[in-house]
Amino acid sequence: MHITLAPMEGVVDHLMRDMLTQIGGFDLCVTEFIRVVEAALPERVFYRYCPELHQGGLTPSGVPVKIQLLGQHPQWMAENAHRAVELGSHGVDLNFGCPAKTVNKSRGGAVLLQFPETLHAIVKAVREAVPEQHPVTAKIRLGFEDTSLALENADAIYQAGASSLAVHARTKADGYRPPAYWPWIAKIKAQVDMPIVANGEIWSASDAQLCQAQSHCDHLMLGRGALALPNLAKCIKDGDPELTWEACKALLVQYSGYEIYGDKGRYYPNRIKQWFTYLKRQYPEAQTMFEQIRRLKDANEIVAALQSSDRC
Ligand SMILES: Cc1cc2nc3c(=O)[nH]c(=O)nc-3n(C[C@H](O)[C@H](O)[C@H](O)COP(=O)(O)O)c2cc1C
Repeated sequence: MHITLAPMEGVVDHLMRDMLTQIGGFDLCVTEFIRVVEAALPERVFYRYCPELHQGGLTPSGVPVKIQLLGQHPQWMAENAHRAVELGSHGVDLNFGCPAKTVNKSRGGAVLLQFPETLHAIVKAVREAVPEQHPVTAKIRLGFEDTSLALENADAIYQAGASSLAVHARTKADGYRPPAYWPWIAKIKAQVDMPIVANGEIWSASDAQLCQAQSHCDHLMLGRGALALPNLAKCIKDGDPELTWEACKALLVQYSGYEIYGDKGRYYPNRIKQWFTYLKRQYPEAQTMFEQIRRLKDANEIVAALQSSDRC
């Protein structure tokens, strides 16, 4: 069993990766996507998205981190991918699943799922540019409007030489609406001879079991579920009991020790409130707690509120 912490733009940054990998159960992390337009990105961009590059591309608890790129130009994707591994990224992941709209005339993400030949060209160019020992992986949804190209897209990525493929088992049109269509992942797995990573709607150890049974995958990727239940990976892998709300609150306090240099103290209050949107799903107590902190702007006030809240 292999578990990857999903890339989540604006949510899973290096501090969140640090916290979640300390709790354990994760074998790999993927960064938020870095948008590639027609340019070689400056080094500082790679370091900003992946400060772990300063430590051999590992989180403080030693879990490898892979940079994710999003863009449409094979040559620029290739050039930036090459740079990413040169700087210490543990391979490169290519984002073909993001529903975001066109920005700066650049396409990328799920929109490319309508064009299997473009997927092929990008993966091929990146594979050729990145030394063999570094995996080149891709992440897709089942399609853009519908699933009609799901197998063709997976095949295009496979034929271009990808090392593995993560499948978020929904189309772009499905957004984040449940369910995730795990049996579709099994169809893709039967089509291509490369490791497939199953992703989407895994919120508990029993979801993970069902997902494995329906997708035929040993490799799972956890996104929102890992934020709702911070020890989800351990629950799945080692059968650990779910973290209690008290233990979870202690984590929220621990997170206050994290500060991004020069962020004028805004980082923690903003991120913690965002984290609550996921925690509310798992812990009814999080709703009440959120009401108490939502207007607070200062990290110390939030910590005091967390620490003084009644046990419940
Ligand atoms: C806020 C947010 C940001 C995301 N950012 C990315 C991203 O940068 N790259 C990517 O490939 N997927 C991104 N995703 C998709 C997730 O990686 C994952 O595929 C999706 O949430 C389904 O998995 P889950 O049900 O376990 O959350 C994002 C999802 C969310 C909710």
